[in-house]
Amino acid sequence: MKIMIVGSGGMLARELARQWSTRHDLIALTRQELDVSALENVRRAVKLHTPDVVVNCAAYNRVDDAETHIEDAYRVNALGPRNLAIAAEEQNAALVHFSTDYVFDGKKTSPYLEYDAVNPLGVYAKSKVAGETAVRDHCTRFFLVRVAWLVGHGGRNFVEAMLHAAKEKKAVSVVTDQVGTPTFCADVARALHTLLETRAFGLYHMTGNGSCSWFEFAEGIFRQAGLNVALTPTTMAAYARPAPRPASTILRNLMLELTVGDTMPHWQESLREYLSTRG
Ligand SMILES: NC(=O)c1ccc[n+]([C@@H]2O[C@H](COP(=O)([O-])OP(=O)(O)OC[C@H]3O[C@@H](n4cnc5c(N)ncnc54)[C@H](OP(=O)(O)O)[C@@H]3O)[C@@H](O)[C@H]2O)c1
Repeated sequence: MKIMIVGSGGMLARELARQWSTRHDLIALTRQELDVSALENVRRAVKLHTPDVVVNCAAYNRVDDAETHIEDAYRVNALGPRNLAIAAEEQNAALVHFSTDYVFDGKKTSPYLEYDAVNPLGVYAKSKVAGETAVRDHCTRFFLVRVAWLVGHGGRNFVEAMLHAAKEKKAVSVVTDQVGTPTFCADVARALHTLLETRAFGLYHMTGNGSCSWFEFAEGIFRQAGLNVALTPTTMAAYARPAPRPASTILRNLMLELTVGDTMPHWQESLREYLSTRG
């Protein structure tokens, strides 16, 4: 397959390229090589490279900054996928676009399924919902993949933040009242590869199995890394940040389960793999 990855400098993009480069003809374009917010440039790139699949890894992910940089968030998270959807459709390519657990308000007391109603709380979340809508509106062959709490090599992620904090400080405080599903880029790359070959287009949750609070995630990281760190619980209210966060976004990978089987490992197993392959 000829696969074009855009936003290829990002954390998930680099893992996709690492796993897929030997099996596929890959074209990887960084932000400097292709700005997804420029429709004509996007059209030109897709026409030039004639990919079978375009994978959009470009995103504005700074959840708190998005509250004040609204145009920037929408430019990347809504116009970007819209432009790619238009261009992919014109060239008969399929589009993979990633979304987030933050499309939900976090009030559901059981795991969210793909077709639960979205209710985004902040600007970042709203811009990601706009991106989902744009993909549905403008192309017919898409995989819309919701991931959450991503961890991948070489990226800014919670595991690296905790390991860094452990080095710098004696005590670390982490929230107990936000719960979700840590998801490792290596697992997404494997599951998405299987899914791509089915051409069973549509909306998918693709998150790690098992769920935890950020506090429990930090406990798991320190336990597995063999670090003795004084970890103190805190709450979202005490750790006030500009953007609202959904309290509980445990996603169930129902569509994946029904299509190819849910092969996403438990987050503790993936954490073990991540720590053992960390450079
Ligand atoms: N990270 C998470 O915890 C998380 C959680 C849920 C969902 N997701 C979603 O998963 C996907 C992958 O996330 P990630 O963590 O791998 O993202 P990431 O590491 O932040 O990478 C995003 C990439 O997009 C690039 N980019 C930004 N604006 C662009 C533009 N206008 N045109 C082209 N490229 C642009 C960035 O380049 P610069 O670095 O030069 O700006 C960066 O290389 C995203 O859709 C994200 O919303 C992530």
